[in-house]
Amino acid sequence: MRRGILLIIPALLAGCDGRHNWLASAGAEAQRVEDLFWVLLLGAAAIWSLVIGAAVYAHRRQVDPSLETQARRFILWGGAVFPTVVVGALLVWGLVILRDITADEGDLTVRVDGERWWWRVIYETPEGDVITANEIRLPVDRTALFRLTADDVIHSFWVPALGGKMDMIPGRETTLALTPIQTGNWGGLCAEYCGGAHALMRFDAIVMEQEAFDTWLAAQAVPAQIADDDRGFEIFQEEGCGACHTIRGTDAQGPVGPDLTHLAAREKLGAGIYDMTPETMARWVTDTHEMKPDIDMPPYPDLQGDRLDRLVAFLMSLD
Ligand code: CUA
Repeated sequence: MRRGILLIIPALLAGCDGRHNWLASAGAEAQRVEDLFWVLLLGAAAIWSLVIGAAVYAHRRQVDPSLETQARRFILWGGAVFPTVVVGALLVWGLVILRDITADEGDLTVRVDGERWWWRVIYETPEGDVITANEIRLPVDRTALFRLTADDVIHSFWVPALGGKMDMIPGRETTLALTPIQTGNWGGLCAEYCGGAHALMRFDAIVMEQEAFDTWLAAQAVPAQIADDDRGFEIFQEEGCGACHTIRGTDAQGPVGPDLTHLAAREKLGAGIYDMTPETMARWVTDTHEMKPDIDMPPYPDLQGDRLDRLVAFLMSLD
């Protein structure tokens, strides 16, 4: 038994790589939950020590009828009044935190749609919606309001270092406010079992300075610039990729899979799981289900040689 517990510890610590560590919070909301956690943990440890101390003391002492009134008073204050006050105060504190992190306004609004097993991401801007996928960029020190929903099954949106988590429910909209206070790449993931590739449903949450964020968002809004005779784009269309994927500015307008307009500008491929390189891209196209089991995209094992190279070069040019 003891050996079993010792074996579990390294596995638990392996999760503390910083990027997904909610105890190293990089957001205002996560910070508040973390504060609550430490108060609960230290408070519980102190109360536990007191109770155990009292039990040991009572066990050792001789029964003394003259102390009966004192004992009753101790039970009333220590056993009823104290827990009521403490639990009541914690309840109020928790409810205030809950109210703040489920606020319905922010400096910017991002809609995220949970798909199997990736994330459709839509920035609402005065000029219209800007659609991307699997990577969420945020300006530091601004509150982003996330409006969350799901396409077919329940997912849960979680960026541990920034705050959350929040269920994404088909046919309903839930909201979550996140205010990053530190720049960096904070990993996000799906925190609710949603089927086959649940564990591979991840994303990058990249927090940037406001100016860099504005530049990025403006670039995302621009349609793809593709030469008329781009052989790679022709192969993309011949293979039917445009039936599922949209590349804005072309006649590829498929609504099923992730928008690919600025695919290569993302740091990761396959919803946060592979580095975006020509090698992983080629494998993604030919060995899709080895790269990510159960996904809807069919593999194209027959696409090889020059045709594959040209298609990959085209996809990597979508920046
Ligand atoms: Cu989506 Cu688990």
